[in-house]
Amino acid sequence: MEKSDTLRKTRCSQSFSEGEYAMQFGHFDDARREYVVTTPRTPLPWINYLGSESFFTLLSNTAGGYSFYRDARLRRLTRYRYNNAPLDSEGFHIYVKDGESVWNPGWQPVQAELDEYVCRHGLGYTVIEGKKGGVRAQQELFVPFGDNCLLMRVRVRNDSKEEKRISIFPYVEFCLWDAMDDASNFQRNYSTGEVEIDGAAIYHKTEYRERRDHYAVFWANRAPDGFDTAREAFLGVYGSPARPEAVFGQGCTGSIAHGWQPVAAQQFDLTLAPGASETILFGLGYIENPREEKWEAPNVINKARARAMMARYAADAQFDDALAALSAHWDELLGHYQASTGDEKLDRMVNIWNQYQCMVTFNMSRSASYFESGMGRGMGFRDSCQDLLGFVHIIPERARERILDIAATQFPDGSAYHQYQPLTKKGNLDVGSGFNDDPLWLIAGVDAYLRETGDFAILDERVPFDNDETLSQTLLEHLRRSFRFTSKHLGPHGLPLIGRADWNDCLNLNCFSEQSGESFQTTGPSEGPVAESVFIAGMFVKYGRAWTDILRHVGLVDEARMAERAIASVERATLTAGWDGAWFRRAYDASGNVVGGCECEEGQIFIEPQGMCVMAGIGKDTGEAEKALASVKERLDTKYGIVLLQPAYTRYRLELGEITSYPPGYKENAGIFCHNNPWIVCAEASLGHGARAFEVYCRTAPAYIEDISEIHRTEPYVYSQMIAGCDAPTFGEGKNSWLTGTAAWTFVSVSQAILGVTPTLDGLKLDPCVPASAKGFTVTRLYRGATYHITVDNSAGVEHGVKSVTADGKTLSGNVLPPAAPGAAVDVRVVMG
Ligand code: GLC
Ligand code: GLC
Repeated sequence: MEKSDTLRKTRCSQSFSEGEYAMQFGHFDDARREYVVTTPRTPLPWINYLGSESFFTLLSNTAGGYSFYRDARLRRLTRYRYNNAPLDSEGFHIYVKDGESVWNPGWQPVQAELDEYVCRHGLGYTVIEGKKGGVRAQQELFVPFGDNCLLMRVRVRNDSKEEKRISIFPYVEFCLWDAMDDASNFQRNYSTGEVEIDGAAIYHKTEYRERRDHYAVFWANRAPDGFDTAREAFLGVYGSPARPEAVFGQGCTGSIAHGWQPVAAQQFDLTLAPGASETILFGLGYIENPREEKWEAPNVINKARARAMMARYAADAQFDDALAALSAHWDELLGHYQASTGDEKLDRMVNIWNQYQCMVTFNMSRSASYFESGMGRGMGFRDSCQDLLGFVHIIPERARERILDIAATQFPDGSAYHQYQPLTKKGNLDVGSGFNDDPLWLIAGVDAYLRETGDFAILDERVPFDNDETLSQTLLEHLRRSFRFTSKHLGPHGLPLIGRADWNDCLNLNCFSEQSGESFQTTGPSEGPVAESVFIAGMFVKYGRAWTDILRHVGLVDEARMAERAIASVERATLTAGWDGAWFRRAYDASGNVVGGCECEEGQIFIEPQGMCVMAGIGKDTGEAEKALASVKERLDTKYGIVLLQPAYTRYRLELGEITSYPPGYKENAGIFCHNNPWIVCAEASLGHGARAFEVYCRTAPAYIEDISEIHRTEPYVYSQMIAGCDAPTFGEGKNSWLTGTAAWTFVSVSQAILGVTPTLDGLKLDPCVPASAKGFTVTRLYRGATYHITVDNSAGVEHGVKSVTADGKTLSGNVLPPAAPGAAVDVRVVMG
């Protein structure tokens, strides 16, 4: 142990006061709830999500991105080429032609130097503005609430002293609906593309002649001076979006796409007096027609619905109204939890960006980002259950639906499909089941829902098993089977069997894969009789207790007692076979060898069981919890966050699987996996360590690391799944931004563990855990229909402990506020000490 140990300790414990890298590419504008990007040359494209219902657009700070309707694979409206060079050249670009000068307000794809540039990413909208040669051009984009379209307003203004004759060209490239097929089946697709032109609208109707009942439409609110719908006419056969022939040459050609690549390009010639400006409204819509109403004439698509859509956004005032409605929608959503702490970084994370990211993960799960291609996995069982923890307070009704959808994919024995498809809501056969943490995450999700809403009626809902209605049982029965699955799948040490993997998808102890290309997730038996997980043991104790609380609440006291015995026995096993002396072990492999113990050559300590077991309260009274967290600090801490394990694995190990497939410092092999850093925050807070909890929180919170954007590279307003760990040559570099369980867990950690406003089955519990220097703060919380204005007074300067709680002047006997009547406003005063 000693040798490798000292080595690692020095490697990872670096000073936290660097400062020499301070480098930003923009700044926050909290009053407008925006991130303002001030250069198009961000280290990576920095994106935003437009849309929150059915129609979505990913949009970068240079107007790259794509749109889809509901399913990013099956209903992709516009093309996007991942992994392309140059990066990010498809999107919603407009070209400005001013004499010989051609440029884009977002810089891409022509990349002409701009005199001024700014991009404002706001909540559900983005505004990009560029200025060059005395012309200012702005594009404002958003998806209106309640409609299936992307709207874009383009404004151009002549800021020069001379009259300007300029042309504006918008350009989008259509995807032939199924993104996977579109990117591979060229022998067919080059012959199927079809469009129709009708005035200022370009209709994309590929496959509408046969089995599709939907089309896309790109429109402008005024007649263009030209258009193209064939890509090779607009760009040139060997042209590119960086140098479209039509723009650089003689203008649009009026081409009609027959097969090949259908696009929508238009041309508007404007004459602008000095100081004059013009506005054009554009849209990209998705329309479905009932089969019997598909056509308005032979081969002519029925455009009635498209015309109605265009009429809804034909004038500036309509555009403005829709934008105002969107803003009101976000006011309502974010209003459920607002804090004022005196720390502007903390406030902007809690009040704006963390909650915004939680909503995006609710909408997208792990499907479409600039790292997730939208063609891969469906909704994860464990991912979706955890995402719930971050949005249940914002949209409890949607959380309810989501819970019932997820539970319906559970098998009768309590195990679960690891993934399901959002369109069909059916479990995904390719991956199947066998991830033995999955069942317990269902308890976690339902527990969070019950604590938020008090809606115990959900437990009586009848929900199918394996999507089979004839196998329906109550949701309560589903939870029972979840709990029972774990208690019936214990290994030689009395710890839960791991199956294919637990939370760590890459710790594959029953896999033994020797062939390249085999899936680590599905190779080998779905469960071995020996490999056990200490992490699942921690989950079983934590969420098992949540289960017994629920049981007692619904009066099933005997069952609760029985469950408590099962929990106590796993807890004992965790403190014996699961305890290594100074931290919790990670697992036992298929041969019964310790994973994550000091006898291991590499991978001696892992973060996950320390976080989960301490959150579960294991070893809290007997000292192990304190020791485990001290070991995390000593061995896993780095200036950019806590790494997943140490020492990193340096070679592939058959008996451990995918985790050892990653080079040291990346992903699950000792990367800073942001998702489980907040577990340590919660764990530290559960021991009353306010300063340490906040320190860990700040280490990965985007707003606090904005000035290392050059190193971090991903967006400074959202979490990434992973930051390269101290063993990686690119230590500190973020990857896989946006779609990560980190969003939900960091919100739980900051809103509940640190600021201490935690829903329980009986009401709102107030138990802050903060640095002693934090003298007080306020939180406004909408909870079960009532609004609580909470003021926390820490003039005592403690890290935790509540001396008194008063509600509307009346002193409470504990620190749990019983739910007030819906509509009530309650003034709460918490005195720490
Ligand atoms: C990814 C998965 C998540 C898993 C984690 C660790 O983020 O979406 O389900 O827990 O990786 O492997
Ligand atoms: C890979 C990733 C892991 C993710 C999994 C999803 O194993 O490393 O993070 O959870 O794929 O299938």
